[in-house]
Amino acid sequence: MIFDTHAHYHDEQFDEDRENLLDSMESRGIGYILNLGTEKNSNRLTLGMIKRFPRVYGALGFHPTDLSEASKEDLDWLKKYLMTPKVVAVGEIGLDYYWNENDDVKKKQMWWFANQIELAKEMELPICVHSRDAAKDTLDTLVDHHAEECGGVIHCFSYGVDMAREFLNRGFYLGIGGVVTFKNSKHIKEVVEYMPMDRLVIETDAPYMTPEPHRGKRNSSLYLPYVVTAIAEIKGMDPNEVIQITEKNAKELFKLAQ
Ligand code: NI
Repeated sequence: MIFDTHAHYHDEQFDEDRENLLDSMESRGIGYILNLGTEKNSNRLTLGMIKRFPRVYGALGFHPTDLSEASKEDLDWLKKYLMTPKVVAVGEIGLDYYWNENDDVKKKQMWWFANQIELAKEMELPICVHSRDAAKDTLDTLVDHHAEECGGVIHCFSYGVDMAREFLNRGFYLGIGGVVTFKNSKHIKEVVEYMPMDRLVIETDAPYMTPEPHRGKRNSSLYLPYVVTAIAEIKGMDPNEVIQITEKNAKELFKLAQ
């Protein structure tokens, strides 16, 4: 079954139909969903969802662009809730230099990224990494803090083959989503062609990153077959094989029973 390794079903875009949608996933081929919090409130909502929906797992963390309200005490709060059953990763964490490149912002992002890597290692949980326009600092931070000890995934991978090699060499998985279906996504198609299948996981980033032919609409795990088909075409594989392998990879990554 399909394993969606990155989604945000706590988002208000799902307020109208969240229950029905998530209850219908299993019968529509979506076996597992990882929901990721990005700040305190969405982390709380994630904890509620993993209790309510058997197929939904959780990752808790503080996202680099959601740090305005975060205080250092929140790190202790995070640690406490990371022990909750069905919380299988620390995320969404990382670096994002797209919006603001001022040094104070970068410093704050770096503090949170580094400390959450350390927390993940302590809790023996993998990390889900968001990295946008920050390839070098992301890699340096992962290396400096020995993040290969906890492992993880670079979600919505958006860099080229050279950077892909760097992350793969350090044992990380790469998350591939809707972008691979876009006509102008030459970089990501090259990365998929280059990378070994046993390090690839699929994701939606729902409600964002909707694949073709639904680009512009709200994304959900139900659109993952478009991503699977695009990967299957690049790899010259059967789509069912892509589903099987990526499910196995995700279960290995998040330490779930095969
Ligand atoms: Ni995300």
